[in-house]
Amino acid sequence: MADQTLSKRAVLTGSGAYLPAQILTNEDMAKRVDTSDEWIVERTGIRQRHFAAPHETAAYMGAEAGRQAMEKAGLAPESLGAIIVATSTPDQAFPATAVRIQALLGATKAFGFDLAAACSGFIYGLSVADAMLRAGQVKSVLVIGTEVFSRLLNFEDRTTCVLFGDGAGAVLLEARDVAQDGPGLLSTHLYADGSLGDILYVDCGTDENRKPGYLVMHGREVFRHAVNLLAGAVNDALAENNLTAADIDLLVPHQANKRIIDGVGKKLGLPPERVVVTVHKHANTSAASIPLALADAIQEGRAAPGRLLLLEALGGGLTWGSALLRL
Ligand code: UT7
Repeated sequence: MADQTLSKRAVLTGSGAYLPAQILTNEDMAKRVDTSDEWIVERTGIRQRHFAAPHETAAYMGAEAGRQAMEKAGLAPESLGAIIVATSTPDQAFPATAVRIQALLGATKAFGFDLAAACSGFIYGLSVADAMLRAGQVKSVLVIGTEVFSRLLNFEDRTTCVLFGDGAGAVLLEARDVAQDGPGLLSTHLYADGSLGDILYVDCGTDENRKPGYLVMHGREVFRHAVNLLAGAVNDALAENNLTAADIDLLVPHQANKRIIDGVGKKLGLPPERVVVTVHKHANTSAASIPLALADAIQEGRAAPGRLLLLEALGGGLTWGSALLRL
């Protein structure tokens, strides 16, 4: 007989997405820098990206995605407990983008804060929300990834400016008492290696020597670390839950490069139909990429109730992590 003991879990009750209307194809990029559709598609899988208009800030886009997630869950804004925003492109140093979003949503009883873990920010955000929900601190948390990376791009550096895009994705997590085989976050695993900080960074802040600048990435170096570190994070998630890759219904990876996504999928032995790919249409939207991919898979019916999802990401820091989520 199945174990009917109930335990408190963070259950996904709604998701949302926002993409700016402006789309730039690879041909559009080739008008600005010395590149080609062929190079970009072959090396990354990217075919287009969305770029934000001036009013489409991280807070604006995050609020739009967050509002959708709450509407799908049927949760009124004034009932929301907390907002966690993963972003490297906040509207301001402070107030936090999460607090700007709180005002835009009318979530008057929610507290909120931003979390900086670059492309891994959404996984980090899930992990913090999970802990808050299971501890009983709040009953609901909106976790949002929202980025305007177009504002960080150096259009004199073809090795980086073709890779990124803008957008926002959100999930609403609510504390529920569920059976062992019920829905919710089963685990999160977070990692960091600050000794690799200089292979992917953006200068910004109060250091006299590091005035605000553009995104800098030593892509080959990041690539070299990505597949192995991600495979490690994924294997830790499976081992902790006594699962094998065969149990995973859908891999929802960070969308940086199709070759990295394929590499992890291959290591796990997952067929392409069990891997969510949106990098061709969104490019790399950093902390927004996983919730955007997730919203896409939910919309298409691929991520349906009962399915077991494995999320993974790696980015500046380096930071990386994984999350196992049953819908
Ligand atoms: O989300 C955060 C984590 N980030 C990532 O996971 C990104 C990881 N890295 C990557 O995805 C890949 O390393 C890149 C897509 C950034 C680059 O692909 P690559 O296969 O590692 O290319 P490469 O840097 O080794 O460059 C190969 C060649 C170079 O020419 P030479 O030196 O071989 O003559 C580059 O100058 O491609 C050239 N190149 C370009 N050519 C046309 C670099 N960028 C471009 C471009 N268009 N945009």
